[in-house]
Amino acid sequence: MTDLHQEIAKRRTFAIISHPDAGKTTLTEKLLLFGGAIQMAGAIKGRKAARHATSDWMALEKQRGISVTTSVMQFEHGGCLLNLLDTPGHADFSEDTYRTLTAVDSALMVIDSAKGVEERTIKLMEVCRMRDTPIITFINKLDREGREPIELLDEIEAVLGIACAPLTWPIGMGQRFKGVYHLEEDAVHLFDARHRDRVVKGEIIEGLDNPLLDERLGEQVGELREEIELVRGASHPFDHAAYLQGRQTPVFFGSAINNFGVLELLDAFAKYAPPPRPRAALERVVSPDEPRFSGFVFKIQANMDPQHRDRIAFLRICSGSYRKGMKLYHVRLGKQITVANAMTFQAASRQHVEEAWPGDIIGLYNHGTIQVADTFTQGEKLKFGGIPYFAPELFRRVVLKDPLKAKALHKGLLQLSEEGATQVFRPLKNNDLILGAVGVLQFDVTAFRLRDEYNVECGYEPVNVATARWIECDDPKVLEEFKRKNFEYLAEDGGGFLVYLAPTRVNLQLAEERWPDVRFKATREL
Ligand code: G4P
Repeated sequence: MTDLHQEIAKRRTFAIISHPDAGKTTLTEKLLLFGGAIQMAGAIKGRKAARHATSDWMALEKQRGISVTTSVMQFEHGGCLLNLLDTPGHADFSEDTYRTLTAVDSALMVIDSAKGVEERTIKLMEVCRMRDTPIITFINKLDREGREPIELLDEIEAVLGIACAPLTWPIGMGQRFKGVYHLEEDAVHLFDARHRDRVVKGEIIEGLDNPLLDERLGEQVGELREEIELVRGASHPFDHAAYLQGRQTPVFFGSAINNFGVLELLDAFAKYAPPPRPRAALERVVSPDEPRFSGFVFKIQANMDPQHRDRIAFLRICSGSYRKGMKLYHVRLGKQITVANAMTFQAASRQHVEEAWPGDIIGLYNHGTIQVADTFTQGEKLKFGGIPYFAPELFRRVVLKDPLKAKALHKGLLQLSEEGATQVFRPLKNNDLILGAVGVLQFDVTAFRLRDEYNVECGYEPVNVATARWIECDDPKVLEEFKRKNFEYLAEDGGGFLVYLAPTRVNLQLAEERWPDVRFKATREL
């Protein structure tokens, strides 16, 4: 095997998806603890406080610049190198999460055992489904009273439309929680609540018929034996191929806060989760073991830390390898650039990388020339697609406080929209600037950044727009006619694409009915 093949085989690039409070932050900390990168734990915890209020969020980002440093966490387990891509906890930044999901090879889904499948999980699962991302499920908080495990699996199957294959099974819950039975290993892993901050391998008892179990579990042992017989009969056996196709999810039970079930999860992750996979560009499918470098930018982040005032473009490597100082071809601009100082995100500090491989994320310093979805290669004209823009659901008109700053405002908004921080629309009928967002915090962050980075003070006014749709039409004549008749509702987005800004849902529905040859699209792929 060449270096390239070895490095690819080792890598697992993934994200955690969950509804807020299911335990994503806690699980992330524990994964890092087991992976030997515990110095991250504080930073992760700090981040959580940030999701409650805008002011906190920005103060914190500013203070610590943590958004950039904790964006990618690399750690080792079982001979594998895991790249965990962080996603914002706050729903208002969910667009960032969706884009990050295009850069992973698999995902870990965390579910609260008392709450089951929740609304954000459903939405995130939809996004995973767009690329058939393989998913491993962790059902968390078994140390509390929750719902019956069988009921939870049924719910996942029914609501999320994915078959469940339990790999561990819980023994009791809440006060009676004793551990899990590992179905593949035929062994009971006993729970001990004393080991919160340490990595301790708890007691393992081989074999369901082992008399030691009767001793340790008392009356619960009969229940367990019966249940396992049932589970073995009634549930899907684990099918690796079905998991890789995104049709089946292996399920683990545990308690993240108690470090319990995390090791089993990590072991399975190293064993089953896919290494970097071939990826479709518009021109052809690119295999990770191709010697020539290729990759795409899935997110751009401004650092609010005044010490590191810069923007970082996050690039996922799809093939070949990166070496410090190499020249990369910026496909959209048709230009060669020398990348002397890309960074990786090992541990809590920024480090300049010497080399990086498929599945790795490198950070490129961006002075306004890099946009979300840009592709970089070693000369080939390739375009990786599939990064979604979602039709915003909230709209505001921008009001400039100092009219002399109009130029700076335009420039700032355009750059922020290229980063994907907000979406900007310019109606055809007037000179308004309308901002669109998926979550209301995005407006606050945009105003903050306009002031901070572009020295422009702006406010917002309500505007009569309920929703937006990107317009496509194959027949230029029909399109012209459509534009003429709907002039007052049309706008261009930051990329110059035509958008229909509907004042009401009913208006949109009528327009769709009236113009059957025009496509009104709720997402735009970059
Ligand atoms: P999130 O990132 O998905 O939003 O969830 P997070 O890890 O912050 O966990 C949400 C709450 O659930 C936290 O409690 C956390 O301590 C708790 N939790 C996580 N895993 C477990 C578990 O295995 N068992 C139990 N019983 N609780 C768990 P909190 O009170 O909101 O915060 P904190 O003050 O404990 O940090």
